[in-house]
Amino acid sequence: MIDIKKGYSLKSKNSFGLDINTQCFVEASTLDSISFSLNYASYSNLPILILGGGSNVLFTKDYNGLVIHPTIKGIEVTEDATDSIIVKVGAGVNWDHLVEWSVLKGLGGLENLSLIPGNVGASPIQNIGAYGVEAKDTIVKVEGLSIPSKKIIALNNSECQFDYRNSIFKTELKNKIIITHVNFKLSKKPTLVTHYGNIEEEISTLGERTVDTVRKAVINIRKRKLPDPAELGNAGSFFKNPVVSIETFEKIKRSFEKAPSYPVSDSTVKIPAGWLIEQCGWKGKKVGNCGVHKDQALVIVNYGNATGSEILNLAEQIQKTVLDQFSVELEMEVNVV
Ligand code: EPU
Repeated sequence: MIDIKKGYSLKSKNSFGLDINTQCFVEASTLDSISFSLNYASYSNLPILILGGGSNVLFTKDYNGLVIHPTIKGIEVTEDATDSIIVKVGAGVNWDHLVEWSVLKGLGGLENLSLIPGNVGASPIQNIGAYGVEAKDTIVKVEGLSIPSKKIIALNNSECQFDYRNSIFKTELKNKIIITHVNFKLSKKPTLVTHYGNIEEEISTLGERTVDTVRKAVINIRKRKLPDPAELGNAGSFFKNPVVSIETFEKIKRSFEKAPSYPVSDSTVKIPAGWLIEQCGWKGKKVGNCGVHKDQALVIVNYGNATGSEILNLAEQIQKTVLDQFSVELEMEVNVV
């Protein structure tokens, strides 16, 4: 039986730890229960919000609608070839649980994405990425329930229109699909990706180069830099790394000789937003009940009692100073509700 809860607090369901109430809340562990929830929302004339692990969302006020929290479980091997396997994974599976599962089996593809908070269902939406790897590199198919037609749909990798922290699920299909399963192709003969930052150096302290040591290296690096949401509310990177023209970057370099960048195309580069924010003096700064993390300026943290509006306000101040100082617009990565 489906249990629609009324006047439910989402404090434990968002990684900023914001005490926000939703008019109605439902955990949906099957396709049928998702369908039922959608019908309930139509019948009751309630807007809906799909909430996965809650690790990339900033609530600024109570939600007057139905929050659907998909909890579909399961990691099922659907194809087993000589060099690779395909796994169909439920949207409600914890992301790092999947990564750990794959690494324990010696399968390659997800190890660089270790310890990213959130659930599998959200991984294609913003094409999660870290240490030189993105979810799009292993996703072969995304399945879900179309909200308008209530039919099951499936999109292959190219149909998902993946891009840096972006996909069709953030554009054309935004609020039009509830992702139920994601299918990944994992390699039995892993090619390790270790060029990013100091991964290689970290691995050398851990022993043999395997998916397991890559995972351990990533975990060590993340733990040193990124706050644990269970201890200090946060949503990982708050902003995307901006892509700017070479001319804009050259201008910045005239004043900041050592400005970091990654090439994107012949005419554009990506600048780490954390660097821009740090240059503006924000790193480690506390403003009321929130602030900018002391070890990674891209992360905004809740020191305990911040409201969503306070956090949004801080984010907007950061955007303004970066625009004033560098003429670069920072786009929020976190979804503001
Ligand atoms: N930097 C600073 N100051 C800072 C932070 C970064 O100067 O406070 C500069 C340094 O030059 C550093 C460079 O930025 O070398 C890159 O920093 P880092 O390796 O920490 O990566 P990032 O670009 O800041 C991105 C992702 C992270 C991901 C890391 C590692 C985005 C928006 N963020 O951050 O993703 O873990 O790379 O691959 O692309 C997330 O999305 O929640 C997330 C944490």
